[in-house]
Amino acid sequence: YSQSQFQSRPEPERSSFGIAFDIDGVILRGRVPVGGSPRALRKLYGISGTLKAPFLFLTNGGGIPESRRAAELTELLGVNILPSQVVQGHTPFKSLLRRYENELIIALGKGEPALVMSDYGFKKVLSLDEYASYFKNIDPVSQYKLWRTKQALDCSHPKESVPRYDVYSDRVSAAFVVSDPVDWGRDIQVLCDILRSGGFPGQENGHQPPLYFAADDLEYQAAFPSERLGMGAFRIALESIFNRIHHDALEYVSFGKPNPFVFKNTEALLTQLQPSHCHNDTTNTGNSQSHAFKTLYMIGDNPSVDIKGAQQAGHPWFSILTRTGVFKGKDNHAEFPADLVVDTVEEAVDYILKREG
Ligand code: G3P
Ligand code: MG
Repeated sequence: YSQSQFQSRPEPERSSFGIAFDIDGVILRGRVPVGGSPRALRKLYGISGTLKAPFLFLTNGGGIPESRRAAELTELLGVNILPSQVVQGHTPFKSLLRRYENELIIALGKGEPALVMSDYGFKKVLSLDEYASYFKNIDPVSQYKLWRTKQALDCSHPKESVPRYDVYSDRVSAAFVVSDPVDWGRDIQVLCDILRSGGFPGQENGHQPPLYFAADDLEYQAAFPSERLGMGAFRIALESIFNRIHHDALEYVSFGKPNPFVFKNTEALLTQLQPSHCHNDTTNTGNSQSHAFKTLYMIGDNPSVDIKGAQQAGHPWFSILTRTGVFKGKDNHAEFPADLVVDTVEEAVDYILKREG
């Protein structure tokens, strides 16, 4: 834009509130929208298509890069979603880039965990699938896994191929559980091998490399009527076994909700999504308080993850619990009561717009 064009455009107003939507059990169940979610999102846009308030998706799920998730959400929900509006469990793994940028790291879970990590800039990433394929007999029951069809094997790296990195002399510096693991038995076995040997499967005991989980959800709501075991359940399984076969207890770090830093970061991201954030603002005296939100709404279905997280984060968070996912109670949750309980995400958005209107 030329200066004159730029000045003639009406300056979009900053909003005093923002919204973080949980995905599984609030927006989607599996790949199916729930609770009137497409309609609820459309209500956030005015007649001229301008956004009434900044919003983003804050999920503990993942397995594909944020750009791909944004495209997928756009398709499923019929509203244009930007990559900057998607925060997944593994999104904060970016902050570890400096430490592991050129180190050999292993990424595991459903989807494309290695692609997620290389998208963040990590240079030497192997999926656990590929890494395990270079170690003959590492999974003693692999021949019984009929679901590892010929097609699936053709797509991954064949057993005899030459490793991209020198996996036999290069130590695994860290393991990242990016998304829900697919083959728990094999994954627990190979992780135990990596972790107890100090990063050299099949060799003597060594110092445990760091282990990172994208989230620690015990259960989550997918398409099946009752909850499914999540990454936290996998962590418990791995930890119980590791602690029985190794002299030192498993050390790990979990990211995702309900960690307070996730909510702090979400607040910063919502500020960046404010319409006038990128413009030169002469009234901005450097006091960030002048841009502070009065209220940030967290709409979630899991009391011990979404509601606990918003509660711990404190002001300006306001928690709304829906009944379309993990929580199905009549009244509020006893241990982590939300500021508001509603049936659906659409009801939540209606409440917010009325309250803020
Ligand atoms: O695997 C996804 C699950 O753990 C949680 O997803 O969107 O409910 O935070 P979400
Ligand atoms: Mg959820």
